[in-house]
Amino acid sequence: MSDTQEMPSTLHSLSGERRVVSGKPAIEDMSVDLNLRPKRLNEFIGQGKVKDNLKIAIVAAQKRQEPLDHIVLHGPPGLGKTTLAYIIAAEMGVNIKVSSGPAIERPGDLAAILTNLRQGDILFIDEAHRLSRIVEEKLYPAMEDFVFDIFLGKGPAARSLRLNLPRFTLIGATTRFALLSPPLRDRFGVIYHLDFYDELAIEEILKRSSVILRVPVEGGGLVQIAQRARGTPRVANRLLKRLRDYAQVKANGIITEEVALEGLLKLEVDSVGLDEIDHKILRTITSKFDGGPVGLDTIAASISEDADTIMDVYEPYLLQLGFLERTPRGRVATRLAYEHLGLPCKRDYRPQASLWNRERA
Ligand SMILES: Nc1ncnc2c1ncn2[C@@H]1O[C@H](COP(=O)(O)OP(=O)(O)OP(=O)(O)O)[C@@H](O)[C@H]1O
Ligand SMILES: [Mg+2]
Repeated sequence: MSDTQEMPSTLHSLSGERRVVSGKPAIEDMSVDLNLRPKRLNEFIGQGKVKDNLKIAIVAAQKRQEPLDHIVLHGPPGLGKTTLAYIIAAEMGVNIKVSSGPAIERPGDLAAILTNLRQGDILFIDEAHRLSRIVEEKLYPAMEDFVFDIFLGKGPAARSLRLNLPRFTLIGATTRFALLSPPLRDRFGVIYHLDFYDELAIEEILKRSSVILRVPVEGGGLVQIAQRARGTPRVANRLLKRLRDYAQVKANGIITEEVALEGLLKLEVDSVGLDEIDHKILRTITSKFDGGPVGLDTIAASISEDADTIMDVYEPYLLQLGFLERTPRGRVATRLAYEHLGLPCKRDYRPQASLWNRERA
């Protein structure tokens, strides 16, 4: 466990690293991430609703001199969940301990973490949907009553020992809210959903990052990067970093619109931020399966990707663009997807199951 730096987990490093537009963290992001990560709520750009609610919750908790309620932050990779967890700790003026679902293997690991917390501390558990069932069950009384039961011995001689824990705040982050077990979900007081950022917010983030990275970006360049950042701050920062290198070699270090366009072309990112794998997914559905519906596993097998990765990393943005629909019978490519690919659309797919779509997203 580390409370200073976030390492990409194995799951993270399996995918995404080679993709410049992946929302998942790559090794190259680590040094910049630390510099570019906003430290306080007023530096955190976008996500107005979440920020407003957080501000109120923080002020109220401080007035009552109580720790915050347990919080879940969920949304696609790279939108600022970890950043917000650190910000909440800074605003509350408390310590933050960081761990993740897969890192807490046994109840003993959890006991060690919990008993080292101090009153008011924040425990941040990343990838909370990957907590094991036995660890999760130990977490329930800790969250609810701030106690941890230890069982000593076996059989009739078994005894239990109840440890009192300090009042702490658990912040759980997940990219897959639907995979959090209902009993765990119910024990969080607040649930915040982070959505993709609009282009203006991404431009603001890019402006801030360009100042920190000391790379001049002209207005036109900024717009071109923002259009391809997939509404994701991590992608925006990564594109900026790559273009900084390109501009230094090719154009006196200034990212003009022309330099941005050239550089982005080299990075093989299209006009809306899609790369080769997104195209593969869309083409598989449109060409091989006549537009769908086609099951996720079938798509995964056709392009040799992991189904979970497709669902976590690629799909959310394709859904957001309206290029893909999730239906009970599988994925369907929409007219917009055909138009983007420059293919004739044989039938105009109109979503029938938008409610189902939203619930599963
Ligand atoms: N609102 C924001 N304003 C400015 N920069 C941001 C914002 N949100 C995120 N960032 C930048 O994006 C990077 C990625 O954010 P962060 O690590 O918090 O994402 P995450 O949601 O935790 O991703 P993951 O699901 O992969 O853990 C940060 O290092 C930070 O530089
Ligand atoms: Mg994170």
